[in-house]
Amino acid sequence: MEKTYLMVKPDGVQRGLVGEIVARFEKKGFQLVGAKLMSVSKETAEQHYAEHKERPFFGELVDFITSSPVFAMVWEGENVIATARQMMGSTNPKDAAPGTIRGDFGVTVGKNIIHGSDSPESAEREISIFFKEEELTTYNKQINEWIY
Ligand code: TYD
Ligand code: MG
Repeated sequence: MEKTYLMVKPDGVQRGLVGEIVARFEKKGFQLVGAKLMSVSKETAEQHYAEHKERPFFGELVDFITSSPVFAMVWEGENVIATARQMMGSTNPKDAAPGTIRGDFGVTVGKNIIHGSDSPESAEREISIFFKEEELTTYNKQINEWIY
């Protein structure tokens, strides 16, 4: 089953949005298979955002993500990578549709509440940066026709 890496960024944690964000993915029907509140080191932040290292915002991005704890999560479900990106909304909250997480709670691109993997390759890479194999649970909710 497909897995993705989602992370409530420092602004989302400070503003008390962890429960709201977890609830959205739970209600959608995805399964939480790993989660932890953690501080991100500079090295981990630079590794996670390596694709942006030449971009002008890279320094600020690393400073932001290391400034205060994040809530790191792994979610599982059919098509969860793309669907979670849709539920997050556009990178810049000013362009994010109402009803999306960034559209409902964000204002500026530098503080856009949540990260989500953008492809299966990113998901695998990012999960392995933030979680050890044994930190991921393989429970099955009661399998029935109502849960996908
Ligand atoms: P990106 O991977 O393009 O967006 P997304 O988080 O939607 O995958 O960029 C990573 C983060 O970098 C983004 O969430 C916020 C920050 N960022 C800026 O601060 N300024 C920018 O102009 C862009 C494109 C991103
Ligand atoms: Mg990205």
